[in-house]
Amino acid sequence: MCGIIAYTGIGPALPILIRGLRRLEYRGYDSAGVALLDNGLLTRIRAVGKIDVLSEKIKDQELLGTTGIAHTRWATHGGVTEENAHPHTALGGKLMIVHNGIIENYRELKESLLSDVQSLPPEEPVDFKSQTDTEVLAHLIAKHYQGDLRRAVETALSHVRGTYGLVVMHADHPDILVAARMGSPLVIGMDSTGHYIASDATPILAYTNKVMFLDDGEVAEVTSTSVKTYNLHDEYVEKHLEHIDWDEKQAERQGFSHFMLKEIFDQPTVFQDAIRGRYNIAEGTAQLGGINLTDNQMREINRVIFIACGTASHAAMIGKYAFERLAGIPAEVEVASEFRYRDPVIDTHTLVFAISQSGETADTIAAVREAKRRGAVVRGIVNAVGSTIARETDGGTYIHAGPELAVASTKAYTNMVAVLLLYALQFGRLRRLSLATGTRVVDALREVAEKMKQTLQLSEEIKKIAQKYSGYRDMMFLGRGINFPVALEGSLKLKETSYIHSEAYPGGEMKHGALALLSPDFPVFGIMTKNQLYEKMRSNIEEVRARGVNVILLATEGDSSAQELADDVIYVPETMELLEPLINTIPLQLFAYHMAVILGRDVDRPRNLAKSVTVE
Ligand code: F6R
Repeated sequence: MCGIIAYTGIGPALPILIRGLRRLEYRGYDSAGVALLDNGLLTRIRAVGKIDVLSEKIKDQELLGTTGIAHTRWATHGGVTEENAHPHTALGGKLMIVHNGIIENYRELKESLLSDVQSLPPEEPVDFKSQTDTEVLAHLIAKHYQGDLRRAVETALSHVRGTYGLVVMHADHPDILVAARMGSPLVIGMDSTGHYIASDATPILAYTNKVMFLDDGEVAEVTSTSVKTYNLHDEYVEKHLEHIDWDEKQAERQGFSHFMLKEIFDQPTVFQDAIRGRYNIAEGTAQLGGINLTDNQMREINRVIFIACGTASHAAMIGKYAFERLAGIPAEVEVASEFRYRDPVIDTHTLVFAISQSGETADTIAAVREAKRRGAVVRGIVNAVGSTIARETDGGTYIHAGPELAVASTKAYTNMVAVLLLYALQFGRLRRLSLATGTRVVDALREVAEKMKQTLQLSEEIKKIAQKYSGYRDMMFLGRGINFPVALEGSLKLKETSYIHSEAYPGGEMKHGALALLSPDFPVFGIMTKNQLYEKMRSNIEEVRARGVNVILLATEGDSSAQELADDVIYVPETMELLEPLINTIPLQLFAYHMAVILGRDVDRPRNLAKSVTVE
């Protein structure tokens, strides 16, 4: 959702801010703006639409200055207009703010500010120009400003309910940025020229890997040479630098036409990053130390709950199958937005895994807090290093997918599945799983990257199939067992990137209602690879076929009989059944990708969606 980049240092700020805004585009936005401080004068430029529109507006202006703030806005309070775009101002343009999050009590704060108007000097007008909660915050800080910007921010925030990641600057403090966080992440990066503040690390990676993560309730006073952090009671807080092992190159398209395609093709490499050093061939097991539990504590776990949203919840479903099959532990998956408002029955033997690419999904964070409150053992399976879920869980595992910038998640899903399989193996070997089976899983995992590479070679073939089906408005994905979550994921990828209506069903469930939907205008994409449910799935496809429906089938290499049942067959390499999602999802991702391109969609930034959903 909204993004922040700010800089103070010895270099010109504008190029850093514009480049940073482009890096933040992936989060989803509808307007953008920058403000620069030069010779005691603040200049602000904002535009609705893409960063290119903003750059065009800036191009003829001489915007100097080595301190500045910038923002991409994804509208929540107030429509998509230039007036509502950030930065927002107060004190007649002397104070500027960029803000992510939602100020819940902004209406009452606004009323109180407006009722104060009479008592304020005329040079400090409280003049609301936008409908945003952020502008209220700007005036609230202005109200408490008495020469010390950080103190003004701290006092203002003591009146605020809601979430924020914000950066404020003031014309009278040429070298100071004040940043504060509650619920919306902020990262501070440092290099030899100065300091960067951003809503995530991606815009900073071009300059440095040395970062500091603000925690909730912290305020930082950042100058070109120093960072001082405080809590909201104005007490100094000691913080440490951390190192992020992502690099700028990973966050580039590297010759691919879209991030989504690049990230699909990243999968063999990042999959290896996810499993490297985490399995033990001799003992046929996995070794994920981050779980922070002794072997005995792991043996005492008698139930696993996965909480996640969207694609991460599909990965979680595969984790459920794996935990039940390999470890014999009952496992459930619940979307975080439901879990957080239920009355979940949880005890100290329940292990809750929060799964999230961004580590910042608001519902998943809330679910983590609820599970912890109820006494569960809560662990994270997360991609973004230093993210809120990574910090708030008492251990867990990074999935090492690298920066994922396309809104539609692909490689993060794959690596979530990889880590879940490793966990299921580790728990299994501590319980009932034999060395022989454990070794088979490890051996099969080690062959996956090569099979992924082979599968990716199908891209052009899949493009032709997508072309053939691009005129349809509906599509049904069918899978059974471990391939049902794959069908769900294929369906989600298609609908979110190409806007084609799609559904996903377990093959055996079709007769109970959904079969009525099918007609020659409603094609089916079936996953019918050779596993223990192959015959069952075959019968389901025959039922579909008997109704004159067009069928695409994903089948195992060598299964020539699949041709009899389908108009188009995509053959994938065989692997162990539990590992099939790691291979079978790839053609579905490619199908969605090519379909979206053929239909002229904004592939990396589908309409109405944001990469990390930081509001409820
Ligand atoms: C779909 C997609 C979303 C995310 C969901 C959770 O392609 O990307 O469904 O999976 O918003 O996001 P994270 O994993 O960041 O918690």
